[in-house]
Amino acid sequence: MPNPPKQLTVPQFAAMKGEGRRITVLTAYDYPTARLIDQAGVEAILVGDSLSMVVQGHSNTLPVSLDEMIYHAEMVGRAVQHALVVVDMPFPSYHLGLHKAIENAGRILKETRCQAVKLEGGVDQAPTIAALTSAGIPVMAHVGLRPQSIHQLGGYRVQRDKKQLLADAVAAENAGAFAVVVECVPSAIAAAITKKVKIPTIGIGAGPDCDGQVLVINDVLGISSGYVPKFVKAYAKLDGEITRAVTAFRDEVRTKKFPGPEHQYE
Ligand code: KIV
Repeated sequence: MPNPPKQLTVPQFAAMKGEGRRITVLTAYDYPTARLIDQAGVEAILVGDSLSMVVQGHSNTLPVSLDEMIYHAEMVGRAVQHALVVVDMPFPSYHLGLHKAIENAGRILKETRCQAVKLEGGVDQAPTIAALTSAGIPVMAHVGLRPQSIHQLGGYRVQRDKKQLLADAVAAENAGAFAVVVECVPSAIAAAITKKVKIPTIGIGAGPDCDGQVLVINDVLGISSGYVPKFVKAYAKLDGEITRAVTAFRDEVRTKKFPGPEHQYE
């Protein structure tokens, strides 16, 4: 029997920066999509709390619960054979004390086949990142625009405080994070962060000089609803394809063209 394919590990992912290899990350929220993304060969799949918006239809990432994140992460974990799988800790699952943060992140690792968690924060979350990594839970940090702090930030805005952004990334690294997402930051600041820290920076709306890039899969496939930020590139227009297929099915049922002879049993 062939050996099962090897999944990328957290240390291998982290080492890619030193090896000068660019890193690709995409979100996924279900089994079939995760399977296709994994087969296409990205380094990591993020079960992002963006599922609150793109799957559940909420207007921000705050409503999704830990149980719901675990429900989706289980599906993704079952599908993936090669990529590292990282799961977002939803709001406020890591703001309730270190003990609760370990308990909640521990549930993600115990109940899914995923290998790491992501949380939003730098300087302010350093104690939590340190506590989780001490418990053997790998952490990807997330600095810059933090969608879970949308009400405090007053909107989805480009983050330009270079001193704070550098301090956040350095604090995350010193606390033990193995990588850091940098969201919605001017390219020059993201480049400075990337130069400053030894862990990989994974940019989203942070220019070309991060060590890797992450996008939301719905945006990449062109099935986004509502506002699409400037940093998104759609590599397909699946919304039009889906509408075309559904209306063709509807029309063929109405005109009795479907099911045809080839779709029937004798
Ligand atoms: O939730 C998410 O999808 C994310 C990425 C956009 C980085 O955090």
